[in-house]
Amino acid sequence: MIRTNDAADRDLTALVEEFFGTTFATDNPLITEAVRRMLAAGGKRLRPRLTLLAVEANGADPRAHLALAAYMELIHVGTLIHDDVVDGAQTRRGVNATAVDYGNRVSVLAGDYLFAWIFKNVTANYQPPIPHILSATLADITDGEVLQLRARGNLRLGIDGYVEIVDKKTASLFAASAECGAITAGAAPIKSAALREFGRNFGIAFQMLDDLLDLTADENTLGKPVGNDLRERKVTIPLILALESGPAELHREAERFFSRDEGAADPEPARRLAAEIVRAGGTNKTRDAIAAYVERAKSALSALGSVPARAELGALADALARDRALRAR
Ligand code: IPE
Ligand code: IPE
Ligand code: MG
Ligand code: MG
Repeated sequence: MIRTNDAADRDLTALVEEFFGTTFATDNPLITEAVRRMLAAGGKRLRPRLTLLAVEANGADPRAHLALAAYMELIHVGTLIHDDVVDGAQTRRGVNATAVDYGNRVSVLAGDYLFAWIFKNVTANYQPPIPHILSATLADITDGEVLQLRARGNLRLGIDGYVEIVDKKTASLFAASAECGAITAGAAPIKSAALREFGRNFGIAFQMLDDLLDLTADENTLGKPVGNDLRERKVTIPLILALESGPAELHREAERFFSRDEGAADPEPARRLAAEIVRAGGTNKTRDAIAAYVERAKSALSALGSVPARAELGALADALARDRALRAR
């Protein structure tokens, strides 16, 4: 049966939602409630979609691999709960960040518990190398978050430093989601490596788009505040690319901005710096960089042959290049 991309997407998302609605529970009621609340708030469910499309691309039935896809989303949710503590963020998925409703202490413990619970289940139920890939991925995500903290306000970070950080904090989970879907479906190594490569390049493009939208979107679309990255002193890709060829005045403006008091309330300096970044071509160059990573992601898929899931993965990547916030449910 040939299905449209949209219909196929809805099918896979519905399968994951049904799984979360009926099956997910840990032994700790408070933690189950906090995690369910974040799951119910929405989110694009991109990581489980990559897992299930990778399963499909290798000739297996996605329905048989829902738990693995769900673990990918749950790792993501655990990192979001922790990330919002680290970033002091108030909003996530259009609702209060977990720490706002439950406090930092419960949020840290909930994330820890969730990770341990996932790994307890994954080690009991999956063959090597899947448990190893997931553990290495969580180590990479945390490493990336620490590198990013240390790079706050560092205007010399440059593209290579940036890509190293986003490769770890964001792309590693997309890479693992696609690779593990392929492995569990019994894919040949060349195909699981291709899907890993797809996920990695998709993830780098995805984080670049997240950085771009932080400057160009509105809060209702994003479900989290806009302009946050500058306020959090993150050196994101539009700033890096604007600094590369921008006027010396932009450099001075950015230096002034990052050396002011942390937590300064006046939103005007962030707004001014954002406008300077756009004027210096930072957002347009970011679109070009996203398009380049999307192309790399799509070329990795040639190892899959012409299966329908390949077109669906390609369409997901293309949506990033069209500057779209991929729609939440
Ligand atoms: C947010 O990821 C964290 C980043 C890697 C930028 P998503 O944008 O996929 O978040 P949800 O799952 O849709 O909420
Ligand atoms: C994404 O980092 C969080 C992780 C990948 C763990 P960000 O801090 O940039 O993401 P948002 O903007 O809070 O979603
Ligand atoms: Mg954050
Ligand atoms: Mg961000």
